[in-house]
Amino acid sequence: MDVLFLAPAYPSEMRRFTRGFAEVGARVWGVGDSPKAALPDDVKRHLTGYLQVPRIMDEADVTARVEAWLGGRRPDRVEALWEPLVLLAARLRERLGVAGMSYDTVLGFRDKQLMKERLRAAGLRVPHSRRVRGEAEVRQAIGEIGYPVIFKPIAGAGSADTWRIDGPEDLERVLKVTRHVREASLEEFVEGEEFTYDTVSIDGVPAFENVAQYLPRPLIARQEHWISPLIVTMRDLHQPKLRGGIQLGRQVLKALGMGTGFTHMEWYLKANGEVVFGEIGCRPGGAHLVDQMNYTCDIDLYRETARAICWKSFEAPTTRKYNVGIVFKRAKGEGRITAIHGLDGFKQRAGRWLVADELLRPGQHRRDWKQTLVSDGFVLLRHPDWEQALALGMDAATNITMFAGG
Ligand SMILES: Nc1ncnc2c1ncn2[C@@H]1O[C@H](COP(=O)(O)OP(=O)(O)OP(=O)(O)O)[C@@H](O)[C@H]1O
Ligand SMILES: [Mg+2]
Repeated sequence: MDVLFLAPAYPSEMRRFTRGFAEVGARVWGVGDSPKAALPDDVKRHLTGYLQVPRIMDEADVTARVEAWLGGRRPDRVEALWEPLVLLAARLRERLGVAGMSYDTVLGFRDKQLMKERLRAAGLRVPHSRRVRGEAEVRQAIGEIGYPVIFKPIAGAGSADTWRIDGPEDLERVLKVTRHVREASLEEFVEGEEFTYDTVSIDGVPAFENVAQYLPRPLIARQEHWISPLIVTMRDLHQPKLRGGIQLGRQVLKALGMGTGFTHMEWYLKANGEVVFGEIGCRPGGAHLVDQMNYTCDIDLYRETARAICWKSFEAPTTRKYNVGIVFKRAKGEGRITAIHGLDGFKQRAGRWLVADELLRPGQHRRDWKQTLVSDGFVLLRHPDWEQALALGMDAATNITMFAGG
């Protein structure tokens, strides 16, 4: 089993998938843009070969270099588990004649407008939306969809340039600050709670499923610095509240032609019970969501995903034991961290339910909270009882305060 794996060391989750492939008996051939010597030891150890390319995002260049490198040999799998590279992996599969999801199928997981069109055609509930270029088209789309709407760039990520528009006043303001956005999607704003639906799937059928709730909704969390975003995986997937979302998720995988690998979907639950699709990628969620899922079941999804991809089997137990919460902290002030208040007290109250503390420490430089959800670090906690897990999460969000200014 030869696996050609794109970006085997970046982002850091990929290092664990590299290990996973090796652990299930594959030979791993890495392709990335960092020099071989700069790869961390835990990646180097698991690689059979490595090709450094000058620009990993340059599809034509990478394809040509990989073909030359392989010299007619054909790997059994070509994989990418990082969003910007899933299309490149599909292109390489097609060029090399390797089994797996086609370019067109992957495009349905990558282009936000196309995915909604395909799902709408399959009869699934997606937000009403229009592709817009320029002011006139924005106004026309609002006329058709009606307020409130959301404006977001077609190829957006991390809620950048994403705005809620409630009425004509908002509209004038948003038009001014988004002049640089060439193409956007204008969508019906869906009011409601926001969840994930994550899977490891084999030939489109989930072998592992997960739901997590965002508290608050990402758009709000990313616009207000004072918030400590909380995301909690839900132990009980059989509760009536989640039935519609999970059913939608399974239908989405079918409608988009999912093959084998990880998926990460977002969906909304309206107060009237209606379930609406948000977006989906054929790769895992970021910001430690895989670790949260691992802590939920006490399993190793890095290895099991690799097993699914290589051997179409999934061997870990899927019994859910915990609700796992992650709380991201943002320090007050700029520069270096100077102090953390309330951490000791929180640790005493959380006891054995605290599973990881990865907060930055005094002396370390703050991260850019607009660029990374992980911000100035996080704590991971878990509890078998939903209310208790939520209370612990709120405790960490409210009572741990980080300061910067050094
Ligand atoms: N139609 C909508 N109705 C209500 N809220 C929305 C809608 N579309 C997007 N949002 C809000 O904006 C957030 C970001 O949107 P979306 O997930 O589509 O874009 P993104 O930039 O790819 O985000 P990310 O990369 O962080 O997942 C969503 O999580 C949600 O809170
Ligand atoms: Mg999103």
